[in-house]
Amino acid sequence: MPPTSEQAAAPTRFSDKMEPEELAIVRRAYAKHVLANADVNDVRVEAAFAAVRREHFLGPGPWPMLRWPHRYVPTPSDDPVYLYQDALVGIIPERGLNNGQPWLHAMLIAAAAPRPGEHIVHIGAGVGYYTAILAHIVGESGRVTAIEFDDDLAMRVATNFTGQPNVRALRGDGAQIEFDPADVIYVNAGATRPADIWLDRLNDGGRLIWPLTSDKGFGENPEDIPIQRRGAVFRIERRGNEFLAKWISAVAIFPCEGARDADSERALAAAFERGGWERVTRLYRRGDVPDEQCWLRAPDWCLAYE
Ligand SMILES: C[S@@+](CC[C@H](N)C(=O)[O-])C[C@H]1O[C@@H](n2cnc3c(N)ncnc32)[C@H](O)[C@@H]1O
Repeated sequence: MPPTSEQAAAPTRFSDKMEPEELAIVRRAYAKHVLANADVNDVRVEAAFAAVRREHFLGPGPWPMLRWPHRYVPTPSDDPVYLYQDALVGIIPERGLNNGQPWLHAMLIAAAAPRPGEHIVHIGAGVGYYTAILAHIVGESGRVTAIEFDDDLAMRVATNFTGQPNVRALRGDGAQIEFDPADVIYVNAGATRPADIWLDRLNDGGRLIWPLTSDKGFGENPEDIPIQRRGAVFRIERRGNEFLAKWISAVAIFPCEGARDADSERALAAAFERGGWERVTRLYRRGDVPDEQCWLRAPDWCLAYE
């Protein structure tokens, strides 16, 4: 029997939270939007964003969503549906430490081109959401080493991956700590220079995703959250003893402990003033490359045009 008009108008009762099967559909839509925003067409990256549950890593809600400029707004409830926005979520809001922008990570991960079976080193894992995206892409035949500097966060990463054999969580300085040779080194914090280990441990054909940021904060106020304003992400690819370099994107990101020094900071600030980062093609680990060949010239390394 067809419903009467009174029945048809009766309010539908929704449960407080979306059901897991509804969330799976929401996640598929989220993955499509994230990749579209990144202007990326990569089925492996899309499948990973559709599969990984962001709420598993961020812990119980409501969650603080970062709204521009620097205001955290709690989600209306602890329904994980609110996490499937292309938005930053505060992990430690008072330190400006966030779960990064999904479209930026989709773009950077696609640029790193990870493949099933590869070893990825993820530096600055936070609570592990993007570690999980990487682990999904390399699959059970690959593995991810996740390194996090902050004690509490490193513990959360370890807990979040309990029982997942293709992820190893380490606490420490990703610019110093020992790790196995890698096909991809995915750095999620702003450096002023390349750490030696990132270049030494990159396999032949391996790719380093490397954010470089200057010391300028977002505002004029010294109390401002120390996210870096002037930043550029480079993709470095190892070919034997050569390091090919390519600018990928501008970036504002939390600083990388252990991979910042005053000389490189000065060289970086001067390079940003000069412009021309998009023409960079090489990273050299020496200080004798002629000035006119360099975009950024630090005492013992440079980013150069050929
Ligand atoms: C911008 S947050 C990103 C967190 C995570 N990738 C995300 O999007 O959820 C940067 C992270 O890098 C960590 N970090 C900073 N310097 C580090 C270092 N030298 N080694 C490992 N982690 C570092 C910080 O503690 C912070 O958790």
